[in-house]
Amino acid sequence: MRNVVILAGGSGTRLWPMSRDDRPKQVLPLAAGQSLLRVAYNRLLGLVDPENIYVCTVGAITDVVRKELPELGPHNIIGEPARRDTANAVGLASAVVARNDPDAIVAFVGSDHLISPEDEFQKAIEQGFEVVEARGRSLVTFGIEPTHPHTGLGYIERGAPIEGTSAYVVDRFREKPDRATAEEYLATGRFWWNSGMFVWQASTVLNVLDTLLPESAARLREVAAVWDTPEREATLAEIYPNLRKISVDYAVMEPASQGKVDADVVVVPMPVHWLDVGSWAALADTYDADANGNRTDSVTLSCLLDSHDNIIVTDDPNHLVATVGLRSHIIVHTQDVTMVCPLSDGERVKDLVARVQSDH
Ligand code: GDD
Ligand code: MG
Repeated sequence: MRNVVILAGGSGTRLWPMSRDDRPKQVLPLAAGQSLLRVAYNRLLGLVDPENIYVCTVGAITDVVRKELPELGPHNIIGEPARRDTANAVGLASAVVARNDPDAIVAFVGSDHLISPEDEFQKAIEQGFEVVEARGRSLVTFGIEPTHPHTGLGYIERGAPIEGTSAYVVDRFREKPDRATAEEYLATGRFWWNSGMFVWQASTVLNVLDTLLPESAARLREVAAVWDTPEREATLAEIYPNLRKISVDYAVMEPASQGKVDADVVVVPMPVHWLDVGSWAALADTYDADANGNRTDSVTLSCLLDSHDNIIVTDDPNHLVATVGLRSHIIVHTQDVTMVCPLSDGERVKDLVARVQSDH
């Protein structure tokens, strides 16, 4: 049976102070008034039966997800008690989905993307399902045509085409390379960005985790074994927070592309406009710019004198942000925090959040 799991447990720290631990970016109305999670859910309709759409998320966000997607059945929310990154989220969701269907095929999609057109997205995921159905032990990724040497994404080097499909064998998967390496990759013309979406048999990824992250694999199976019993919460609480925190890209995709497991890695091209809403600069790409290149969202009230190329956001339509002579800065104002940073330091908002959390 085909299933889709939306991964929605990230913290979105680079969009602080709008994005918070208990209200992270995926549940904020950042997509023309809708949440990224709602948009991610709606784009799956018609691709798989809603009964087979799951959301995997963490802690306090679980209640927000329930409110945001009231049509999700209680069995379709997979809640982790702590954030242990995507290798464990993928392992847990795979074990949970496979407990009633050992042959389950699962697509994983992110909750922080804007994608258009949606039918190209659906066609590519459909192709991913078909590739797994035909080939069995394949780990399918989806490639996006890169536009610049972004260092916050994974890179996929395509190898030989796979006959009868739009897919290619993957020669290399490299997560978040440094800038020089990303530039080298782009120059070859053989690399795609990793979209952060995957399709595989649940059993394949669990076997792969047995080899690559054996501690997690064993413990996640223990959790899945009691999933339908009253022991679920206690077992999760005991096991989950102690799992090694690591993403599926580092734990699974990089080593699998180096032939270290009994599965091959495949890439299906996804010819779409795709945006990982990962930072203020990325989100501001969706805003209109004024004649001086300043970008603001539709709520923000601003008065910008002799100011150029700034990103200004507030969550209060009655709060005026006024600047004079300001260039290339990000200002984000919320009820309790005002954040100001040069555009060139936008990726460092993550470090700022860590400092704020340790100091306050
Ligand atoms: N359930 C759960 N639990 N979900 C999580 C967790 C977790 O602990 N951590 C992150 N997520 C969710 C996020 O909400 C997001 O939808 C997705 O998993 C990916 O996590 P990010 O933290 O946003 O990853 P990234 O953007 O740095 O990198 C990944 O996505 C890129 C494309 O957007 C990688 O797969 C890159 O290779 C890829 O290019
Ligand atoms: Mg992301």
